[in-house]
Amino acid sequence: MSLAHPVILVFDSGLGGLTVLREIQKARPDARYVYLADNAFFPYGDLPETVLIDRVVTLIGEMITRHRPDLVVIACHTASTLVLPALRAAYTTPFIGTVPAIKPAAETSRSRIVGILATAGTAKRDYTRALIAEFAGDCKVIIHSPMQLAARAEAFLRGERVDDAAILADIAPCFIEENSRRTDTLVLACTHYPLLLDAFKRIAPWPVTWIDPAPAIARRVVQLIGAVMGAPVLASENSALFTSDAALTPPLSAALAEFGLPVIKTVTVD
Ligand code: DGL
Repeated sequence: MSLAHPVILVFDSGLGGLTVLREIQKARPDARYVYLADNAFFPYGDLPETVLIDRVVTLIGEMITRHRPDLVVIACHTASTLVLPALRAAYTTPFIGTVPAIKPAAETSRSRIVGILATAGTAKRDYTRALIAEFAGDCKVIIHSPMQLAARAEAFLRGERVDDAAILADIAPCFIEENSRRTDTLVLACTHYPLLLDAFKRIAPWPVTWIDPAPAIARRVVQLIGAVMGAPVLASENSALFTSDAALTPPLSAALAEFGLPVIKTVTVD
């Protein structure tokens, strides 16, 4: 049963969730979107697990009260691999999470050498380890957590220059060659990273298949709340909410408008 003009809350620590939002918007242009970036706590990748659980459960609860979304998409691997059980226990609103796309990567790889780029938080989660054991047991998996890559993606979207050499150093450890086989598939297990996909493709030591989870999440949204049901909403009905006004620069406002989010607000959550 499809909902007419559903309200969908898309959430991330920062700007990475925009890579998920744009795929969902293609599938449901008739939905109203509230995009929430918890930039006051960015990056999530380094936060202790108890702090992250408390923060996300509180923040999402506040947003559910204020915006009454029909669906919440946690467009953040670092949060999804940890906080989803607590969110589902606390609220009746349906949630869709974003978890490392290890299953499709294992299905894609022919060399059986798969790289995973993830934040330190996602890389160390039991959830991630379990996915690797379940779906990629016969693959050599190189999981690498570049400390600054999510921040570089944010800087890129703010219109700052991002150095190719720094990006190459961030992704290079996932490219290995052994016994005449080499990495052929790379999982982008942080929603920030697809913001730099053009640069990755240009700089990569050799071509690989890059796995971005966003199209699969958009399909899941349609499974859960149905396909398009009505005319597209005006972009002015969507909003981008930030928990801090730091770094809300004019180039970022322009970038957000291109993602269909011309209305930008700072929210206070205690
Ligand atoms: N975009 C987030 C993810 O998918 C995390 C970035 C961060 O805050 O560390 O994991």
